[in-house]
Amino acid sequence: MESQISFQKQNQINIILNDQKNDSKKTSSIENSPFRIVEDAFQDIIGMDKLKENVKEMYANVLINREREKVALKTDQQVWHMLFKGNPGTGKTTVARKLAQIFYDLNVLSKGHFIEADRADLVGEYIGHTAKKTRGLVEKALGGILFIDEAYALARGGEKDFGKEAIDTLVKQMEDYHDQFILILAGYPDEMDYFLSMNPGLQSRFPFIMHFDNYTIDQLIEIAMHMVKERDYQLSSEAIWKLKSYLIKMQQHKSSQHFANARLVRNMVEKAIRYQAVRLLQKQRYSTNDLMLLTAKDIVVE
Ligand SMILES: Nc1ncnc2c1ncn2[C@@H]1O[C@H](COP(=O)(O)OP(=O)(O)O)[C@@H](O)[C@H]1O
Ligand SMILES: [Mg+2]
Repeated sequence: MESQISFQKQNQINIILNDQKNDSKKTSSIENSPFRIVEDAFQDIIGMDKLKENVKEMYANVLINREREKVALKTDQQVWHMLFKGNPGTGKTTVARKLAQIFYDLNVLSKGHFIEADRADLVGEYIGHTAKKTRGLVEKALGGILFIDEAYALARGGEKDFGKEAIDTLVKQMEDYHDQFILILAGYPDEMDYFLSMNPGLQSRFPFIMHFDNYTIDQLIEIAMHMVKERDYQLSSEAIWKLKSYLIKMQQHKSSQHFANARLVRNMVEKAIRYQAVRLLQKQRYSTNDLMLLTAKDIVVE
């Protein structure tokens, strides 16, 4: 998949514009869509309609700016740094990885790699160490996306903490390498807001703010069904029912910060697959259907 897309990269704009003009006979609407690359990348993502629209806007913006450039019209100076606000398991890392691929396909990023980092990767132990560490990380990320999770942890220790030095270094690197990498700071919404309020001037450097909402129970069930289908499994209707009531219970009992959203679903699915395997081995005889079916017994709730 990756190599297929990268192979087209050089002629990306032409391919897309030509497709629209000439390929009206193609049957699939996705194939005809000028946003095919975005739609393909996000096809396994449930919900997030607003975010998908935002990504299409960015995508269109890049391509149209390039067309304008060709005919000597004014273009925006594009900076793509972003803030991702959302609780755990709401898809922040997943989306950031997809953006690395999309911006690579668009030729905005030269390598399209993805580096996920947290406070420990930026902050050092003695004076001067932090700036060096942070610079090293940014240099590694050039051509790709640098994703800093729980970014507010950089502000944890106040003025004297080396986290401050990491922030200052990042800001400097954003200027020095402004079009060579994309920086995404991610974290819980409230902590991120607090972090930004403590560092005035930071927010304006991030033109894109993406909100990752908690999933509804129905969306979580849809995500579960999608996850099992992808792995060649099925959930019995009792299994779905059991999973659903467990998710409802967890959502009610945990604060929204501690309810792990789609990550909880993934863990449940992976556990169910392991339990099914044990159950089947004990049974000794099983059909293809048995091999595929995850039953209520396999949904393990604590
Ligand atoms: N909208 C979605 N559709 C399908 N799967 C999702 C969706 N959002 C998250 N997931 C899955 O849930 C898991 C946790 O997502 P992740 O991106 O790690 O969340 P975060 O970084 O916000 O904690 C991943 O396995 C991811 O594939
Ligand atoms: Mg994450």
